[in-house]
Amino acid sequence: MGKKIFSGVQPTGNLHLGNYLGAIKNFVDLNNDNDNECIFCVVDLHAITVKQDPKILKNNIRETVATFIASGIDPKKGIIFNQSSVAAHAEGAWILSCVARMGWLNRMTQFKEKAGKDKEKASIGLYSYPVLMAADILLYDATHVPVGDDQKQHLELCRDIAQKFNNDFKVDNFLRVPEPLIQNEFSRIMSLKDGSKKMSKSELSDLSRINLTDDRDQIINKIKKAKTDPLPMPQDVKELNHRLEAKNLLVIYSSLTNSTIENSIKTFMGKNFSEFKERLAAELADKIEPISKEIKKLLEDKKYLDEILLDGVEKANLIANKKIERIKEIVGF
Ligand code: TYM
Repeated sequence: MGKKIFSGVQPTGNLHLGNYLGAIKNFVDLNNDNDNECIFCVVDLHAITVKQDPKILKNNIRETVATFIASGIDPKKGIIFNQSSVAAHAEGAWILSCVARMGWLNRMTQFKEKAGKDKEKASIGLYSYPVLMAADILLYDATHVPVGDDQKQHLELCRDIAQKFNNDFKVDNFLRVPEPLIQNEFSRIMSLKDGSKKMSKSELSDLSRINLTDDRDQIINKIKKAKTDPLPMPQDVKELNHRLEAKNLLVIYSSLTNSTIENSIKTFMGKNFSEFKERLAAELADKIEPISKEIKKLLEDKKYLDEILLDGVEKANLIANKKIERIKEIVGF
């Protein structure tokens, strides 16, 4: 049986290697399997939970579409659309926010991280964003949701919301409880400057991440400057527990070469970091540079990108409108 796949990516500027290895690479494989129905959403409603420049946002939406396509997602095989063009997402989020409990949301670690010390100043949207994410998924009866490890808690919340809705309104299995698809070993790519921090677009230093728009020289330079430790390459997996930067680079190498971490360790055991870094930089540049070039090329054809979105919006509306109408009936509207 094929899977119904739904996932989303925020259009908040440069997508990076973490987004690619943690999520988009998996989208491509799932989309290539003809048995699956895939829906990939550019979650612009999520993006405005923190301040965005309107002009830049519009372009970032296109850039996210370009990144999907440049990474290998065939828009003819699935649906690519932007969230704000399908009103059911906002409507669904409101209704589900009356089902979700404060106590559940208070546990969300990403809100705590993103809001930082001054959570009184965070937007309400940033706090309730996992409910919008639940609406995204549940409107499409998704069976599987491919994400990186940082979204796992939000998916658990989505499952709880679906179950509570079904129980409260006595509609068994009406909202489909989705399964997360998280690639164990490669689900969390860390900063190139600090192996204990997630690679992210919000980190100040550009040297901390490989952007999917970086060119070959930038990629090679960033790997050269990536933090390591003074020891030779690790001998076994146990060593990685206290050598976080070495672990992260080996994770990246293994994911790129479709290898296991154990095998990558065997290949470079006892060698110097410089030799490993050269191989890693070459692999990365070979993989990312063509994507980067293709993103830039696609961005020159705004009309093409807008057409893909329009087509996706039309298809997504058909599915989501049906579901939201049923939800409204069930609630008593
Ligand atoms: P976002 O836009 O922050 O990230 C998009 C995807 O990239 C993954 N990711 C990573 N994976 C590994 N290592 C990293 N360093 C890394 N950084 C990001 C994320 O886990 C994600 O899969 N709330 C979501 C978007 C969303 C969504 C949804 C996802 C909205 N609605 C419905 C799935 C289903 C987010 O902000 O992802």
